[in-house]
Amino acid sequence: MVIDCDPGVDDAVALLLAFASPELEVRGVTTVAGNVSLADVDRNAARVLDLTGLPEDFPLVSGVAGPIARQRRMRDEPVHGPGGLGGVDLPDSPRRHREAHAVDWLADEALARPGELTLIAVGPLSNVAMLLRRHPAAGAALREIVIMGGAAFVQGNVTPAAEFNFYADPEAARCVLESGLPIRVVGLDVTRAALFPLEAAEELTALSGTAGIAGQLLSAYTRRVTAASGATGSPVHDALAVAAVTHPDIIGWESGWATVECSGEYTRGALVADLRTPDRDRPTQIGRTVDADRFVRLLSERLAGYADA
Ligand code: BDR
Ligand code: CA
Repeated sequence: MVIDCDPGVDDAVALLLAFASPELEVRGVTTVAGNVSLADVDRNAARVLDLTGLPEDFPLVSGVAGPIARQRRMRDEPVHGPGGLGGVDLPDSPRRHREAHAVDWLADEALARPGELTLIAVGPLSNVAMLLRRHPAAGAALREIVIMGGAAFVQGNVTPAAEFNFYADPEAARCVLESGLPIRVVGLDVTRAALFPLEAAEELTALSGTAGIAGQLLSAYTRRVTAASGATGSPVHDALAVAAVTHPDIIGWESGWATVECSGEYTRGALVADLRTPDRDRPTQIGRTVDADRFVRLLSERLAGYADA
């Protein structure tokens, strides 16, 4: 699989989880502007890969710098803190991004192994939409696209209707959801039901190496989120999308048809999921329920495995 991301604290944790998951063969990481600018996302992704001990030539490929059809809108609130990684100061990385553009690199990867590559997309869908537009045969060669985005039956986190990744590039999200490709959507419906407790984050912080850094990232993020929400933990949205691939039954899925509102005055970026018609010809799996305890255990154990790394 490949992870397309915009780190972002939960993107960083998703990457750490993926590289600690023996179920996955991660072929590369692509980046897209979202939580912070593409330059900041690129810097953060390189620094996070350094934490995993991967060789410097592991594929890291930079992608699209903004929404495909409109002007970039920044986040109003810095949920991910200064620089996008919760203010946690990671050392500069010697890692260089590949020369290729992420969209073309993804196409080559998909075409090299038809029907095998899963794309986990945890940022705005700008790269994925460009892939489907520029290289439709490569899109069709994907095994599956697993998306963190949307809020089908709960409130959004940017507007009442819209979740950040879909709001940031609604036209891209619509293009992907209406592609007819096999898609699973991990939205706020499930990520908000699987809160990672501050206590668990602090336990990780006490560990050495990358496990301790993961704890610092999660603690800073969780404190910021819980100060606003009053909850005892925070969603780790993007990591749940990775868990949905390693342990698909951690989430309860319902199939239907889905798209994204692009023009509504109050609803732009909203995920519109129609679960009344499971046999329509564009089926998408939407996450409806989640085994929260299992997710918290899985994430804690796998991040703790980085102690001494
Ligand atoms: C999504 O928005 C970003 O801030 C997170 O990284 C996650 O991908 C949650 O709405
Ligand atoms: Ca993200």
